[in-house]
Amino acid sequence: MELITDLDVLDDLDAPKHLAEETPAPAGRRVYIETYGCQMNVSDSEIVAAVLRAHGFGLTRDPEQADVVLLNTCAIRENAEQKVRRRLDVFRAAKRKGHPGLTLGVLGCMAERLRTKLLEQEQLVDLVVGPDAYRDLPRLLDLTTETGQAAVNVHLSREETYADIAPVRYDTNGVSAFVSIMRGCDNMCAFCVVPFTRGRERSRPVESILAECEQLIAQGYREVTVLGQNVNSYRYVQNGTTVDFPELLYRISRLSPELRIRYSTSHPKDCSDALLHVHRERHNVCNYIHLPVQHGNTDVLRRMRRTYTREEYLALIDRARTICPGISLSTDIIAGFCGETETEHQDTLSLLEIVRYDHAYMFMYSERPDTYAARKYTDDVPEEVKKRRLGEIIDLQTRIALENNQAEIGRVHTVLVEGPSRRSDEQLCGRTDTNKMVVFDRHDYEKGQYVRVRITGCTSATLFGTPLGTTTLAAGA
Ligand code: SAH
Ligand code: SF4
Ligand code: F3S
Repeated sequence: MELITDLDVLDDLDAPKHLAEETPAPAGRRVYIETYGCQMNVSDSEIVAAVLRAHGFGLTRDPEQADVVLLNTCAIRENAEQKVRRRLDVFRAAKRKGHPGLTLGVLGCMAERLRTKLLEQEQLVDLVVGPDAYRDLPRLLDLTTETGQAAVNVHLSREETYADIAPVRYDTNGVSAFVSIMRGCDNMCAFCVVPFTRGRERSRPVESILAECEQLIAQGYREVTVLGQNVNSYRYVQNGTTVDFPELLYRISRLSPELRIRYSTSHPKDCSDALLHVHRERHNVCNYIHLPVQHGNTDVLRRMRRTYTREEYLALIDRARTICPGISLSTDIIAGFCGETETEHQDTLSLLEIVRYDHAYMFMYSERPDTYAARKYTDDVPEEVKKRRLGEIIDLQTRIALENNQAEIGRVHTVLVEGPSRRSDEQLCGRTDTNKMVVFDRHDYEKGQYVRVRITGCTSATLFGTPLGTTTLAAGA
């Protein structure tokens, strides 16, 4: 799954356009939510906000105004958890000093992984709630307030998809939104904690996904990113026929010719030709796929239990490029997995040279308790070697991304404007169909418009350009 990064903290509860400013709480209790980890967690925080608002809680973007602070956490790597622990220390200090009534809760993957340990051994928090138990939050909050005792629900469900809950969109630009289509993961990659923290795979009913997308379109959204740990496994039986992921994408793409559709994450083992053909045939399914390879060596991939070889992965990339010319690709890479030799590491570098991804998320292997790797292998690549190898991967990938971007200079792209650029209000930013961020002068253009932009410059991460006028998505089809 594409990461927002461990380090990004979405600490702004920006009230969405269709809501009043900050939602006042009739009962007086106001909740502040801080989100770590992947897009799935961002999407879950929107569900948490909806559940709490429906029970009379208010939302605030200022932790100092809050009666309840909830950290929606990530457990994917050790440093993700350390970051949350440091944040918990800050809030516990605030509680001791001037705010004894503050309720402090941990949600998400770290809550699920550590379960009652956060209470028993560490006495860190008042509330521990796993990813499948968010409907229970109002009851648990009442319980802990009434009894003064900690409340816990880390039950993992085989059915819960929160299908009927309309997420409260916060921290939104009003242009692009996440829509969760499935939960959990049955893959059991050797390094990964997600199957333990998110439970078994289950798909959300197709009607509820389409209804949510239609509502977003009616609210003026122009882009949806559909989310799941392994979206290719989406499967839902409707009136006796099975809707699979390519069919679901096709149906979403038919809702509006002006709605762009992206998704994350697709596991290479089941990225089918049918899916590639949907990219080719539907102009509004973006010409971009995030296809995490994790490693470039077949033996390491086997140890990782990824179920494909280097050759099979490269064949998939060839197929994707044949069926969808110009498709943009990104990936995830892990450096320093158990037993990784220098030669195996070189295979990751050579794979990067062959595929020439536009973007990669690159990580040092971090052993996670209870995973297959933690139980069966030794985390034997020394820290300095992991760091050096990761550095080589990052350096190479940065050069490739820069070269790919330099090749864009002179081309014209349709950019969906997301808002002001990070650096200046006089500039706007938005993405190309191929998911590249473009920055250009504001003129009279506005958020939510499709603008033709000629690319004039770049860094390895951003394109710069000159706007040529507004357009429609259908016009470029
Ligand atoms: N479902 C997604 C991955 C979600 S986790 C997929 O299969 O692609 C996002 C990324 O974190 C993974 O792709 C992997 O590159 C990285 N990751 C997962 N576990 C890790 C670990 N123990 N150490 C380092 N990186 C890890
Ligand atoms: Fe983790 Fe693998 Fe599932 Fe992705 S597919 S969430 S890496 S177990
Ligand atoms: Fe996402 Fe982190 Fe959980 S990557 S699924 S929030 S462990």
